[in-house]
Amino acid sequence: MENTKEAQLQERIGRRLIFFPLPLQGHITPMLQLANILHSKGFSITIVHTNLNSPNPANYPHFTFYHIHDGLSETDQEASKTDILSLLSLLNVKCVEPFKQALAELLADNSGDPSACLVSDAILHFTSAVCKSLEIPRIALRTGGVCSFLAFAAFPLLLEKGYLPLQDDRLEDPVMELAPLRVKDLPAIKTSNPENLYELLQGMIQETKASSGLIFNSFQQLEELALSKLDQDFGIPIFPIGPFHKHFTTSSSSLIPEDHSSISWLDKQAFNSVIYVSFGSIAAIQEKDFLEVAWGLANSKHPFLWVVRPGLIHGADWLEPLPENYLEMLNGRGNIVKWAPQLEVLSHPSVGAFWTHCGWNSTLESICEGVPMICSPCFTDQFVNARYVSHVWRIGLQLENGFSREKIEMAIKMIMEKKQGGEFRERALDLKEKANLCLKPGGSSCESLQSLVNYISLF
Ligand code: UDX
Repeated sequence: MENTKEAQLQERIGRRLIFFPLPLQGHITPMLQLANILHSKGFSITIVHTNLNSPNPANYPHFTFYHIHDGLSETDQEASKTDILSLLSLLNVKCVEPFKQALAELLADNSGDPSACLVSDAILHFTSAVCKSLEIPRIALRTGGVCSFLAFAAFPLLLEKGYLPLQDDRLEDPVMELAPLRVKDLPAIKTSNPENLYELLQGMIQETKASSGLIFNSFQQLEELALSKLDQDFGIPIFPIGPFHKHFTTSSSSLIPEDHSSISWLDKQAFNSVIYVSFGSIAAIQEKDFLEVAWGLANSKHPFLWVVRPGLIHGADWLEPLPENYLEMLNGRGNIVKWAPQLEVLSHPSVGAFWTHCGWNSTLESICEGVPMICSPCFTDQFVNARYVSHVWRIGLQLENGFSREKIEMAIKMIMEKKQGGEFRERALDLKEKANLCLKPGGSSCESLQSLVNYISLF
């Protein structure tokens, strides 16, 4: 009897899961990691992807890839580099038909394993209606943190109470309903058309609530309060099974080639001496701010590894705004690359701190290596993450009110020096330990993953 049950469960696990990532680096990476995790549990995996930022199938020979035309014109793609909000809204409109066709075709295909459900990025909220029409369950993956997701879910309340739209004279006010956030930490953006943002968020929240479950790349011990609030408010099964990248090592899903010379450079630096600087895959800064960063780093006297992604500086191709002899002047103390193997960098013994924009992946990756942070959030959820880093987990400090070389120099000295820097590091190492434990047998993420596998198997 038991054996039959076991065999039935195994048969159900052998089914196909269809994944649809949002085509941006910070979203593709965690979704492919999740696909790998569920593949290791016995599911077959199909990745539906757009032509924009399509992943490299050669890195995933164990997955099936299905390409759809996203319908974005060259102008749409060009505009999306500076206006992410429009891109997200466009994808939710232009992908409807091609995605529906793809899903219908995949569901009708009897040659492989039958499909159990769709795992969709929560932002691609249109997939909810498509799944409903084709009668297949949808599970949402939110690639950001739980705290920022709660802040997004609170937008109607924040609008009603007058915290939003953002007003310059209220930025320092506390938001009692979302302590310890201040108005300036809310995940809004200054835009001439805030309605677009509200509409997108409303779609994301509403369709997440209508889905069969919600997966987070986070863990219980990191966002406990937020998770229990979400549990009460959403009434759907929630699976915090992160940190994804720590389940096991997988091949890189980097859309930009990684410069591995940064690792051999780190090998030559002293233990805990280097500040690693990266503002992620999307953020762009003004040239004057870039120069403040450059001089702040130079004046700090600490070695630094700095990722300057082409596109980081508005109006420049790459490093043209830097004084010509900038790196020579530093005598090897500074290293600039276009893109680094970030996971390897953060786990390198020479790295003492991470100056980050606080994208959720970067924040979590830093936590997992016990590396304290300097936070310079640029938009949306990054503000919430930065506030949690500095005021809840207390594993870093936030650079506020723009970039100035003096403040940068002070922040670097503070985070790298023994006393205060040491306290940040101690707490960061404590969180690292918790992140490790949650993946061990009996740990919260390990258990939550097993519940997810059992849950999907019942579809
Ligand atoms: C975007 C949004 O900006 C962010 O607010 C949201 O939380 C996630 O999506 P992004 O700018 O891509 O974030 O930053 P992040 O979430 O930190 O993801 C960047 C990824 O690129 C990380 O996994 C990081 O390891 C990787 N990376 C970054 C590299 O591999 N090399 C680099 O040089 C820089």
